[in-house]
Amino acid sequence: MNAMPAVSVIGGSGYAAAELVKILSQYGLVELKHVYSHSKTGSIRKLQQSLKKDLKLTDKNPAEVFQESDVVFLATPMETSLELVPKALDAGCKVIDLSPAFRLPDENAFFEAHGFEHPYPELLGESAYGLTELNKPAIAKSKLVANAGCYATSVILAAAPLAGKASKLIADCKSGSSGAGANPQHINAHHSEIHGNVVAYKLLTHNHSFEISAKTGCEVYFVPHVIPISRGISSTVYFELAEQLEAEEIAKAYGKFFGGEPFVQTLSEVPKIPAVLGTNDCKIGGFAVKKNIAVCVSCIDNLIKGAAGQAVQNMNVMLGFSEAQGLERQGLFL
Ligand SMILES: NC(=O)c1ccc[n+]([C@@H]2O[C@H](COP(=O)([O-])OP(=O)(O)OC[C@H]3O[C@@H](n4cnc5c(N)ncnc54)[C@H](OP(=O)(O)O)[C@@H]3O)[C@@H](O)[C@H]2O)c1
Repeated sequence: MNAMPAVSVIGGSGYAAAELVKILSQYGLVELKHVYSHSKTGSIRKLQQSLKKDLKLTDKNPAEVFQESDVVFLATPMETSLELVPKALDAGCKVIDLSPAFRLPDENAFFEAHGFEHPYPELLGESAYGLTELNKPAIAKSKLVANAGCYATSVILAAAPLAGKASKLIADCKSGSSGAGANPQHINAHHSEIHGNVVAYKLLTHNHSFEISAKTGCEVYFVPHVIPISRGISSTVYFELAEQLEAEEIAKAYGKFFGGEPFVQTLSEVPKIPAVLGTNDCKIGGFAVKKNIAVCVSCIDNLIKGAAGQAVQNMNVMLGFSEAQGLERQGLFL
């Protein structure tokens, strides 16, 4: 590896890529070598005004980009990741894939979630699940990290401290419209459908159900909703407890579980979406219990902790950098 690792981003005009470029262009310890777009050329600031200094999309093709990179982020649709991940690995890159292509543990789980055979089932066994807080040793050793899904990140983190104490969970999740990416195809993603509305979709069938179930071991009932904000996720998660626990006891256990983590904060209050916007934080709070049902609320920024920020957090672990390198910032008050 070069003295300063060369890092590239594929999917250059997409939303997650925009956040990756923003973080990596100010990062310091890596060189942002190439940003590749299959549909656009020229200035990146034309696509993303927030950049202080303009950058140019590369005119190299993905194979050339892989040859000149130590680390590659694929911020692409699943089908594109399925095609490009093996090529990037063959070229010797460490790969962080933001799509659902390599997140599930085996080909059966993949088929159940996506309805088609995985073309590289052997790579499912080699990929490390990229929910950083819960899988650091495997991420540190792996050449392929499957960045965790956005809803899945908020729910799995909310469930982790109760591992072994709850066998069933219900996740009622609300997301901003950027969850559908820069070119949404579904009618539910249109402003006129979402504005002044709450739209439930893929009831109990969203592919993150399989991801949540695989990583928590719980029976999962997950319903995502789109709400009229552009970014942020708030997940209300209900757990059926196997033993009687008090809310204070649960809150204390969460505080202890995440005590050393730079990006998970537990609160007694219900967390607010603005407080995590633009940050890599997950805030979990509002703990309550009635009979055998416990509930808490978990908030993230879908484009940062749910995508680009967690991807950089995973890169930090893979490269042996401080986990928070390039990612420290605070959210909004309102
Ligand atoms: N949005 C979220 O909140 C979120 C959260 C977690 C994970 N993810 C996952 O992260 C990935 C990127 O999401 P996103 O929201 O950034 O999506 P997006 O805005 O639609 O960006 C994806 C980009 O991939 C590139 N692309 C599309 N089709 C391609 C093709 N056939 N060949 C090569 N490149 C192609 C396009 O960029 P160019 O035209 O510039 O090549 C496109 O803009 C997806 O797999 C998504 O599921 C998204």
